[in-house]
Amino acid sequence: MDHSRAPVLDALAAFRHRGDVVYGPPGHRQGRGVDSRTLTILGEGVFSSDVLMLNGLDDRRQSEGVLEDAQSLMADAVGAEHAFFSTCGSSLSVKSAMLAVAGPGEKLLISRNAHKSVISGVIVNGTVPIWVHPKFDAGRHLAHPPEPADVRRALEAHPDAKGMLLITPTDWGSCADVRGVAAVCHEFDVPLIVDEAWGAHLPFHDQLPAWGMNADADLVVTSVHKMGGAIEQSSVFHLQGGRVDPTVLKQREDLLGTTSASSLVYASLDGWRRHMVEHGHELMARTIGLAQDARSRLGALDGISVMGAEVVDEGYAHETDPLVLTIDVRGLGITGYQAAELARTRHHVDFGAADSFRLNARLTHADDQTSVDVLVSTVEALRVDARGLGPSGSVDLPDQHGLELETAMRPRDAFFAAAEQVDASEAVGRVAAELVTPYPPGVPVLTPGEVITAQAVEYLQTGVKAGMLIAESADTTMGSFRVVASDAVRS
Ligand SMILES: Cc1ncc(COP(=O)(O)O)c(C=O)c1O
Repeated sequence: MDHSRAPVLDALAAFRHRGDVVYGPPGHRQGRGVDSRTLTILGEGVFSSDVLMLNGLDDRRQSEGVLEDAQSLMADAVGAEHAFFSTCGSSLSVKSAMLAVAGPGEKLLISRNAHKSVISGVIVNGTVPIWVHPKFDAGRHLAHPPEPADVRRALEAHPDAKGMLLITPTDWGSCADVRGVAAVCHEFDVPLIVDEAWGAHLPFHDQLPAWGMNADADLVVTSVHKMGGAIEQSSVFHLQGGRVDPTVLKQREDLLGTTSASSLVYASLDGWRRHMVEHGHELMARTIGLAQDARSRLGALDGISVMGAEVVDEGYAHETDPLVLTIDVRGLGITGYQAAELARTRHHVDFGAADSFRLNARLTHADDQTSVDVLVSTVEALRVDARGLGPSGSVDLPDQHGLELETAMRPRDAFFAAAEQVDASEAVGRVAAELVTPYPPGVPVLTPGEVITAQAVEYLQTGVKAGMLIAESADTTMGSFRVVASDAVRS
């Protein structure tokens, strides 16, 4: 295919060239109706590029096939049979992917270290989740994705499961054996969905971890805005093989998706694909080199350790993403939360995820020696900033199986059941009616339907005292929990 073309960008250029006068949305009329103070900050380009697909970039019947063309080029670029652009982030794409494999009331194996958008999908879609627990790394207190043997056991126990959803890479850069899990799923003739939200860069260099489409997954979801170069909310589904029907996927996605997709998202996805086909390999090679440099310079600092290949072992990670720098700051006597806040307030440097042990920095093709130098000098400065502070709190971390909670009700039933807000001391033993999610990384500690334990409550309460952010619970202080009313509990 001719990858020098970019159908959405080309259609946008043609739209501007023709000078079309539009009487449909968007009402700002390509920026003419936007207040000058807004334009000063956002820039005119944002509005002049905000054009509907229908009767805008394409005609009423979409007969020019602008979007189809751009999606086919994307599929070709990353080795998929089909690619579908989505403009509501992977938060929506994972729900659509799950719905394409398991309808309401059907079983789906799901790695329990799933992002909250997956758990929301379980609730919205009415999926019956069969949790496959990740590998808990007690020393580092983080979870690595489940292994093929774990998936085999779950499929043997639930032969009626419709498929498996795997999350890789994790927020901390730990990666699954996608090929091994796909082989097990295919033995049972069910599809493997991979939530590769953090993996948009993976197709473009063979020294990066396995890209789902190359490792036999059936359906892969990516957030191109995370590790790639498209704007926020840009997500793509990739599909191959005959286990998931593309029409079913498209129609189920249509149930959830917007009818007013953003041309900015489509155009930036289109541009990213062309950029990567033409220069992806060299850009990724350069970024891998920069990350190696950063890793060794950070690792040489007293009090700092950077997670790396030592976690690749049976029962731990299958591989790691070299572009993710997971920086353990325990040796500085502060928490990752404090380190992230010090970096932002004192040095104007914003890290990715942070927890009580560590914080992470991700390098992308957009980084360069200067941004690597800033990263290293910031962490050096944190060593000074941390002196005499002491940790912001001591988090009561759960033990090895402490977060494998008993499921008493289906998540959807628990979420929609009559509920009450009870004091934390009374919540133990009750069935959660809400998601309780430390963010980032956004993996829920409690999902609706799980029986709340004392360990989970202590972890959340001490975590919040130390700086953990709980975004969406009814009581984000963790002083009380929303639980299923006693007379509504049923299995
Ligand atoms: C593993 C995983 N899946 C899905 C999502 C949702 O992606 P998005 O932010 O594109 O909606 C995230 C977001 O952080 C994630 O970490």
